[in-house]
Amino acid sequence: MGKMRTHSAPWRAAAVLASVLLVGGVAACGNSDTGGGGTTDDGKITMGFSQVGAESGWRTANTTSIKEAAAAAGIELKFDDAQQKQENQIKAIRNYIQQKVDVIAFSPVVESGWDTVLKEAKDADIPVILTDRSVDSADKSLYKTFLGSDFVKEGRLAGEWLVEQKKTASGPVNIVELQGNTGAAPANDRKKGFGEAIAANPNLKIIASQPGDFTRAGGKQVMEQFLKANKKIDVLFAHNDDMGLGALEAINAAGKVPGKDITIITVDAVKDGMQALADGKFNFIAECSPLLGPQLMDLAKKVHAGEEVPPRIETEETTFTTEQAKEALPNRKY
Ligand code: AHR
Repeated sequence: MGKMRTHSAPWRAAAVLASVLLVGGVAACGNSDTGGGGTTDDGKITMGFSQVGAESGWRTANTTSIKEAAAAAGIELKFDDAQQKQENQIKAIRNYIQQKVDVIAFSPVVESGWDTVLKEAKDADIPVILTDRSVDSADKSLYKTFLGSDFVKEGRLAGEWLVEQKKTASGPVNIVELQGNTGAAPANDRKKGFGEAIAANPNLKIIASQPGDFTRAGGKQVMEQFLKANKKIDVLFAHNDDMGLGALEAINAAGKVPGKDITIITVDAVKDGMQALADGKFNFIAECSPLLGPQLMDLAKKVHAGEEVPPRIETEETTFTTEQAKEALPNRKY
């Protein structure tokens, strides 16, 4: 607990008992690696963080960034892995409210359905920071700020690159799309941005689009179906590197050459994706940075101190071609 809250002894005893019971609850629904109640007397800020899961290389790098940054900033982190389930995130957030942490931060697995729990945090006077993904709540006072990427822009950059590559195409260019998990902001927004960009050339057509849940296994399985159902696939747009990497296996198994027979565009730019791009198996990546930890901890300190913070903080990102990936790879941190 930070310095700003003090409690009487009977309240503390009740809080400790409630925390013990509730932590058990969270551990059962998600994957929590910090137990104990929310009361510490060392003056440290306590942050309760609910992570989406461990579905991708991006997510692993994001979790590492958050844990390392919390330790460096002297913030006590209570971390819960929701295993891609909204109900687990809601349970974890309620647990953090019960523990009276100083700040709650989370990356919402889907965009909708957060108003009730966010209102509970607000009523308990605990500031909430959204990180990586946002929510669609109309009431913006339910959270202090949203730190993360512009996913629509990532999709648009991917689409614009394709429009440029195919500007001389005289016939239809068949595109298949591997979406992230249904209802997730990056799935909705990347689809939107990409669709808007390719509308510039009527030859570019999405012939199939399905969720692969941001995982390699999902990417492989859905790509196998796409390949079975469609004779001519010219382009794959995968909403992240991991699904693209899974799809490579399906494409190879179908006797096609990834990056040549099928142009592959992805999002993220994690090391394995960048390696595939450098090797010519992918053709283009729109970057999405997972290194949000240091900014998140900075924001936590500010909101805890009652300082105003901007309602939206956008991550700086770029794009990569094969040549650029070869250059960037030796210094890639994740
Ligand atoms: O929200 C960010 C997305 O989630 C990343 O692009 C993807 O890899 C992850 O699972």
